Amino acid sequence: MPAVLPPVSFDPARGVAELRTPNSLYALRVDADGSPRHLYWGPPLDRAALDTLPAPHSPARSSFEAEAAADELAPQSGARFGPAGLQVRFADGTRGAQWRPAEHRITDGELRILLTDRHFPLAAELCYRVRPDSDVIERWTELRHTGGPDDGPITVDRLDSASWTLPPLSDYRISHLVGGWNSEFQLLRDRLPVTETVLTSRRGLTGHHAGPWLALDDGSATEEHGEVWSTTLAWSGSWRITVHRDPVGRTTWTGGFGHEGLSWTLHPGEQLTTPVFAGLHTSHGFGAASRAWHDHVRAHVLPDAEHDRPVVYNSWEATHFDVDHRGQLRLARRAAALGAELFVLDDGWFGARRHDRAGLGDWTPHPGAFPDGLRPLADEVHRLGMAFGLWVEPEMVNRDSDLYRAHPDWVVHSPTRTATELRHQLVLNFARPEVEAWALRTLDRLVRDNGVDWLKWDANRAFTEAAWPGRPDPDRLWIDHTRAVYRIMDRLRADHPHLRIEACAGGGGRVDLGILARTDQAWTSDNTDPVDRIAIQHGYSQLFPAATMAAWITDSPNGATGRATPLRFRAHVAMAGVLGLGGDLTAWTEDELAEAADLVARYKRIRPLVQRGRQYRLSAPDGVTAVHYAAADGTEHAVLVWRPATRFGHQPPALRLPALDAHAHYLDADTGLRYSGAVLRHRGIDLDLPAGDCASRLIHLRRHHP
Ligand code: GLA
Repeated sequence: MPAVLPPVSFDPARGVAELRTPNSLYALRVDADGSPRHLYWGPPLDRAALDTLPAPHSPARSSFEAEAAADELAPQSGARFGPAGLQVRFADGTRGAQWRPAEHRITDGELRILLTDRHFPLAAELCYRVRPDSDVIERWTELRHTGGPDDGPITVDRLDSASWTLPPLSDYRISHLVGGWNSEFQLLRDRLPVTETVLTSRRGLTGHHAGPWLALDDGSATEEHGEVWSTTLAWSGSWRITVHRDPVGRTTWTGGFGHEGLSWTLHPGEQLTTPVFAGLHTSHGFGAASRAWHDHVRAHVLPDAEHDRPVVYNSWEATHFDVDHRGQLRLARRAAALGAELFVLDDGWFGARRHDRAGLGDWTPHPGAFPDGLRPLADEVHRLGMAFGLWVEPEMVNRDSDLYRAHPDWVVHSPTRTATELRHQLVLNFARPEVEAWALRTLDRLVRDNGVDWLKWDANRAFTEAAWPGRPDPDRLWIDHTRAVYRIMDRLRADHPHLRIEACAGGGGRVDLGILARTDQAWTSDNTDPVDRIAIQHGYSQLFPAATMAAWITDSPNGATGRATPLRFRAHVAMAGVLGLGGDLTAWTEDELAEAADLVARYKRIRPLVQRGRQYRLSAPDGVTAVHYAAADGTEHAVLVWRPATRFGHQPPALRLPALDAHAHYLDADTGLRYSGAVLRHRGIDLDLPAGDCASRLIHLRRHHP
């Protein structure tokens, strides 16, 4: 029997640390100069094999390149000319760190490499964590000023969470997500150029335009085959990841919170801790990488992955700002009859908020629209058997609001600059303790007084002119704001254990592993057109599990694109995530209401598979795509198939289901047809799609024991 190697180990004699996950090994080596350098990341190797690996070295050593071997966190010092993950300045103008030979500490699946500067009172800990049954390696950095009162401050210009290194590959390709409002999570797959490629957000929010996730491969990986290395940063404010493919064929990347140009002052005794930058390796393609991320997010990130996400009805697309007690009640009754389990009252219920120019910041019910407050609506929603949810946007304020009139200094602003308004609103500076305290107090009261079970927490603009008048270290607000959002969410959840929170920033503008550690799901996009949604959901699923992907059936034609689509297609696309309803139900015909109720009931039957199963993304000719959700024990399967556009003369193709067991048999839960697993894997299932554009089908299979 081979010896079972521990998940985390450090051998001082070899200077080698090993992080072992079920399907991968990550190894680093602390060199005599004290610098931890990357050694290996890939399929598991035993120790003897690991010891045959050459020490990390620069392949292009010359008088111009000395110690270019890949650092675990590259300080700006020595002959390192790539992107630095640690940039510091000391009071006398010296830049960069030079480490003493490192120490280490291992506790509970966590490895810390302790580094101290040879001259200045600066200490860094490079932290690594592996969790049981996860292939993800979590990494972060802690930086400390270890001096006394006589030591000057240390300026931190950059502190990344981690740097990562690929083995030499024949070529390099990057997969990443780009987009905009209404078009988030578009997956791009491009050859990595020989240069520095920067993925970043300078917006104070994760961003619609990019996300802190990437995958790298040699250009040959597919959905089910090939090695893939993938990383993601758990942070919801500004961020930067720099991927460096150098001319001699090596690829490294470094990333962390904050964008370029921000700095942070460390005074004696102070510490700066980065968010987690998590990474994984798989030998089985992009699909396996996504499944490993999904498993990790459900097991180790989400606060409560096991509860079924409820079928929501949200009033936004039906009523916009035109909300009142009677209108919402009418929608709530219809929603309950369709099988909704949660009713969310969206924007427009508070202050003078009859449009987007006033009222934001005044979190008391609009007296005309809700003369007796929200409680009567919440009570009625509860009587209808649904939970009651409320839209809030706590970080923002309209100038035309009582809050702004009382506290104009609470907003992120610079007194000498014109404050840019976006959607007529400004950002409150949550880094100010009194603003954080106000927000917590206000939200706590809202939840407590109104029987609120759910908050949809929105944020509809980026930061601009981000200064903090009178504050000596103003850039802190970029990081402290996000930390305050996290603290408030954590505190609300702790004080109201039944409360659930949905992350939203104009749709999917703030979805990442940081926000998902304190929310239950995310509003994926304001774009609810099902054809556009297929691409949005495809990108979203690269990293995030379906249990976090909120998706509504809304009206046709779609409000954003004008496209008319069948109800069944809209529903089948939304069923790939957390199904909800978002249209004007008072305008739906009796037939539509009956069909919708049936579709919601069908979703509830496959919900455990979608929300807790393993996901396989499939495609077939003629633009047919599908997502297969398999129960962890393989006994039950749901496949959602979509064909947006029909083509004359083309039969809908058979769809192969490679996740099925070739030795098993399956029964179609709806038609009673019996299938051989081998046939479904190798030849495929006939799709039998209805005629016309936007055709779709839900296939529900159960393993059959004849
Ligand atoms: C954002 C959200 C929408 C809706 C509106 C309300 O755009 O993404 O779902 O809540 O704000 O103003």
